[in-house]
Amino acid sequence: MNIAIVGAGYVGLPTGLALAYLGNDIVFIDVDSEKIELLKKGKIPFYEPYLNEMLNLTKDNVKFTTDYKSGLKNISIVFICVGTPADENWKPNLTNIKAVAEMIGEYRTKKLEYVVNKSTVPIGFGKMLHNLINKDHTSKHIKGKNYITVVSNPEFLREGSALYDTFYPDRIVVGSDEINGIEAVSQLYSPIVNQNFTPPSFLQRPNGLSAVPIVTTDLCSAELIKYAANAFLAMKISFINEIANLCEKVGGDINEVAKGIGLDSRIGRKFLNAGIGWGGSCFGKDTSALIEMAKEYGLKLHMIEAARIVNYNQRTIIIEKLKTQIGNLANKSIGILGLSFKPNTDDLRDAPAIDIINKLLSEGAYVKVHDPVSLQKFLSMTNKSNIYGNTDVYKVIEGCDAVFVLTEWDIYKELDWQMVKRLMRGNVVIDGRNALNRELLIKSGFIYIGVGR
Ligand code: UGA
Repeated sequence: MNIAIVGAGYVGLPTGLALAYLGNDIVFIDVDSEKIELLKKGKIPFYEPYLNEMLNLTKDNVKFTTDYKSGLKNISIVFICVGTPADENWKPNLTNIKAVAEMIGEYRTKKLEYVVNKSTVPIGFGKMLHNLINKDHTSKHIKGKNYITVVSNPEFLREGSALYDTFYPDRIVVGSDEINGIEAVSQLYSPIVNQNFTPPSFLQRPNGLSAVPIVTTDLCSAELIKYAANAFLAMKISFINEIANLCEKVGGDINEVAKGIGLDSRIGRKFLNAGIGWGGSCFGKDTSALIEMAKEYGLKLHMIEAARIVNYNQRTIIIEKLKTQIGNLANKSIGILGLSFKPNTDDLRDAPAIDIINKLLSEGAYVKVHDPVSLQKFLSMTNKSNIYGNTDVYKVIEGCDAVFVLTEWDIYKELDWQMVKRLMRGNVVIDGRNALNRELLIKSGFIYIGVGR
């Protein structure tokens, strides 16, 4: 199958490279010429495990271009994978995706039959997409150009494990109001649904996985499934964080509580890790978009609103905890270990670390930062004085009154705590992800502060 992927980012690249691995010929189209040039040289423009290896394996089946006209030649399916970032009113900004639809409409050939949308869009946008792409059609049979069927195929992959999630997803959702669209996209995914492909050596199939469920539905339901899934996960994290805050008052341990409730199969243990809350490009944007969309129908989404309040409060509560230990923050040196919104990514969008750093700076602290992959990206984004960064974690820790761990990278779990103790001026370690060995730290003479423990 000849497939075009519009948008070579966090969603487009894993999707396109996985489809290439499964035997399709892929053209990536992206307006960012710098990114396309890098990809042509075999370089991945952002940090995501195994994308380099996958590009290497599939290089004979993939092409990269900024030009829609040549890109869409011979293509029968286009996947749209462009960003829909939140605008100043927290609504998804649809400028990019509308421009993509116009370009596809303009440059589609007779061969093009299906446009599959993976970008997260407001509910009902699929119908608008259909009209934008088919706008010069008054009937299904127009000379020279095909009528295009629009399909929604929401993305559930997580950054940091994008390729794994693409090959071994919990489910695939395919929504369209036209049955041929559902059939074509289901067929494309059949090697993943039936798990009958040979796994790449670096991404072994999980034990016991023999098939992946596929949910086929209408366009609108598919779009809503995406938002509902992210909102539910966001609420689950906020729920455990609220219980963690209660644990601190009553003297419980949130890890024990999470284990105790997570073993109930109706609840499940995943996404019950308490801490400084969610960040990233998705949960914040999608929960707010859902709230705004519901408002347009006169509906208030109480639970999702509450989840957001709990989430963003976690970023303040953690600083209050520090202040109870070391008092006023003016002129104190505070170490920040971890900037990315989670491990295995260099993504800093809505990263809790950024808010926490800004609050520390506003209280007069001197902030020293480290991250194994996003340090340079962070430093190039900030023009603030009073921030020092170093790729050597021990240089960052040196002289600090307190240290926060804000992203649970493995290197922080494996620190030499005796050395940390010698290097620090103070002895407070705040574990914003409950990732460290609490007993070891206490034994090493630190004041250990976690979340909900
Ligand atoms: C999320 C969803 O998990 C994906 O299914 C979805 O496809 C994606 O958004 C998207 O809409 O594109 P992602 O943002 O990559 O994926 O990251 P997650 O692994 O979901 O983590 C989100 C945030 O929640 C991170 O900051 C993480 O540290 C935090 N988190 C996660 C917790 O605080 N506690 C947990 O138990 C789990």
